[in-house]
Parts: sequence; structure tokens; C-alpha cells
Amino acid sequence: MKPEPRPGPSTIYLYELAWILPSIAIPVGMLVALTVTAFGAGIHLPGVGGRINPQAVAQTPPFNETGVVQTAPGRYEVRMTAQIWAFAPNEIRVPAGSRIRFRATSKDVVHGLYIPGADLNVMLLPGQIADAEARFDTPGEYAVICHEYCGIAHHTMAGKIIVEPRP
Ligand code: CUA
Repeated sequence: MKPEPRPGPSTIYLYELAWILPSIAIPVGMLVALTVTAFGAGIHLPGVGGRINPQAVAQTPPFNETGVVQTAPGRYEVRMTAQIWAFAPNEIRVPAGSRIRFRATSKDVVHGLYIPGADLNVMLLPGQIADAEARFDTPGEYAVICHEYCGIAHHTMAGKIIVEPRP
């Protein structure tokens, strides 16, 4: 049997190149994607909006008056508290195209604030104020879900955001 011809130096060089080029291109591509999403699209981690005494949430502004306030045309701020097993407010109405800033905290244990269909997923920790924004362009009903196990009735802890079509 005749032995297989061994690959010449130029074939080896091409094989090496086929590995080297993607291993440069992939991290460079990821860095570009990270830069574009962080600075171009403004996507970032939800921030910590300060600390709060979890025993005195109901007396501490802005959580002494939970609800929705309009801060500018098309912009709203939701001041929300979570406690076993409800959000306050648990129903929010805004017109389509609104941008909502959520300032939220927990009065007792760790809760979550997750809105499928919007870019919002934060933990609500007692003692911390979560600060996150999301845009609601498509009219409809969005669920507000607690996605951190918070006790026996965790599965019932939900609210909704009603995004109304623009007149
Ligand atoms: Cu609150 Cu689960």
C-alpha cells in the first residue's frame, strides 16, 4: 500500500491560518458588539439607585407614594414596592411609545421584577433601590412577574402593564 502524501508546508500554513483568523476575529467581533450595545443602543446592567431602610419603605420618599408619574412627554417613572406577595402598584397604564423608569425596592424578602417582552429583569433586594428603564412601543398587556422565590404564594405575585395604543 502506498502511503498518503504528506501535506506540504503551504497546506500546513493554510490550516494554521484557518484557526488563527477566527480566534482573532471572534474576540474582536465580541468587543465591537459590546461597544455598540453599550454606547450605541444604551443597553447596560440595571443600576443601584441608592439604599433604603427596608423597615421604613412606606415612610421614605419616593415610596411613600407608589404609582406612576409622568416626568416628560413620553417618559414615566414608576415608584414600586414589592412585598409578600404583591407589587404596588400592580397595574400600570401608559401610552405606546413610552419609556418607563422603574424605581423599585422590597419591603421584606428578595423579590424579582421581570417583564417578558420588555428588556427588564432586576432583583428587588430589601435595603436597595433598583433603578432600571424599559421602552414600551407595542400596545398590549405586559405581565410583571416576581421571578425570585419569595415564599408559599410566590407564584401568585404578579402585576400588569397596559400599553394603550396612541389615539
Ligand atoms: Cu415575590 Cu416571588
